[in-house]
Amino acid sequence: MDVLVVGGTGAAGRAAVVALAGRGHTVRALSRSGKTDVPGAIGYRADLSTGEGLAKAMSGVDAVVDAFNVRSQSYETARTAFVGATERLLAAGKEAGVGHHVLLSIVAIDNSPFAYYRAKEAQEQAVLAGQVPYTIVRATQFHEFGGQLAEQTRFGPFVVLPTFVTRPVAVSEVGEALADAVEAGPSGRAPDLCGPAVERVPDMARRTLKARGVRAVVIPLPLPGKVGAMMRSGALGGDGSGRQGRQTFDEWVRGESAKA
Ligand SMILES: NC(=O)c1ccc[n+]([C@@H]2O[C@H](COP(=O)([O-])OP(=O)(O)OC[C@H]3O[C@@H](n4cnc5c(N)ncnc54)[C@H](OP(=O)(O)O)[C@@H]3O)[C@@H](O)[C@H]2O)c1
Repeated sequence: MDVLVVGGTGAAGRAAVVALAGRGHTVRALSRSGKTDVPGAIGYRADLSTGEGLAKAMSGVDAVVDAFNVRSQSYETARTAFVGATERLLAAGKEAGVGHHVLLSIVAIDNSPFAYYRAKEAQEQAVLAGQVPYTIVRATQFHEFGGQLAEQTRFGPFVVLPTFVTRPVAVSEVGEALADAVEAGPSGRAPDLCGPAVERVPDMARRTLKARGVRAVVIPLPLPGKVGAMMRSGALGGDGSGRQGRQTFDEWVRGESAKA
C-alpha cells in the first residue's frame, strides 16, 4: 500500500513510518520540514494549518495515518489546530480518493476536564463526521511522557509534576498498532492500546532524568478538584480490556541509561 503518515517526524508518526516501511509499504512522511531519517521512506513538506502542500502529498495514497500534534494547554488553540488539520486532511483525502483515514488518539478522553483532551475529542468527532472511512486508535501515554513533561515544568533544579497514574506504552508498539490498523482497513474504533504496567508520572520523570544523567528534584503535586482526582484514579491508563503493549517502563528506561 501507499501510506501517508502525517506528523511522520514526530514520536508516534516516526514509529508508524518505521513499522509500515518494515512491512514493505511505500511510506510518505509528512511534516513542515519535509524530512525523514527512516530508510526507504519519502519526506513530504506540507503545512496543516493552511493546507499548503497537502494535495501533492495525498496524490495516489491508499491510506493516511494522522499522528499530527500541537503542544498547547489552551482549548481554543488545540481545538483549532486539531480540528482544522483533520478537516483539511479529510477534504484533501476525499478529493484524492483516499480509502482509509487512521487517527491516533488518546485513551479515556471522553468528557474530560482537560482542555487538550477535549480538543482531541473534537478531532475524533471531525473524523466521525468526515467522508473518508476511518479507524481511530487510542493509546495511553508513551514511556517518554514523564521526561517530556519534566522538560516543560523544570524550574532550576526542581520539577513539579501532578500525581498522575497511567499505564505507559512503548511508542514503537504504537507504531505497530497504527500499521496493523492500516492493514486491517476501516474498522471504526480499534481496541485501546495501553502499556503492561501501572506507573506514576512523577516517578517516570525522576527515573528518566536520572537515566539521562540530569540532576533534578521531582516534586509530585496532587492537584485539587475533578482534574486531580481523575489523574490519581488511574482511569487515564484505560481499563486494561483492549490491546496491551509488551515493553515495560523499566525496560525502556534501562535503554535510556544505556544511551546516556
Ligand atoms: N505523547 C503521548 O504520550 C501520546 C499518547 C497518546 C496519543 N498521543 C497523540 O499522538 C499524536 C502524536 O503525538 P506525538 O507526541 O507523537 O507528536 P510530536 O512528537 O509532537 O510530533 C508532531 C508531528 O506533527 C508535525 N507537525 C506539527 N505541526 C504541523 C503542521 N502545522 N503541519 C504539518 N506537520 C506538523 C511535526 O513536524 P514539524 O514540526 O516538522 O512540522 C511532527 O512530525 C497526537 O495527536 C497526540 O495527541 C500522544
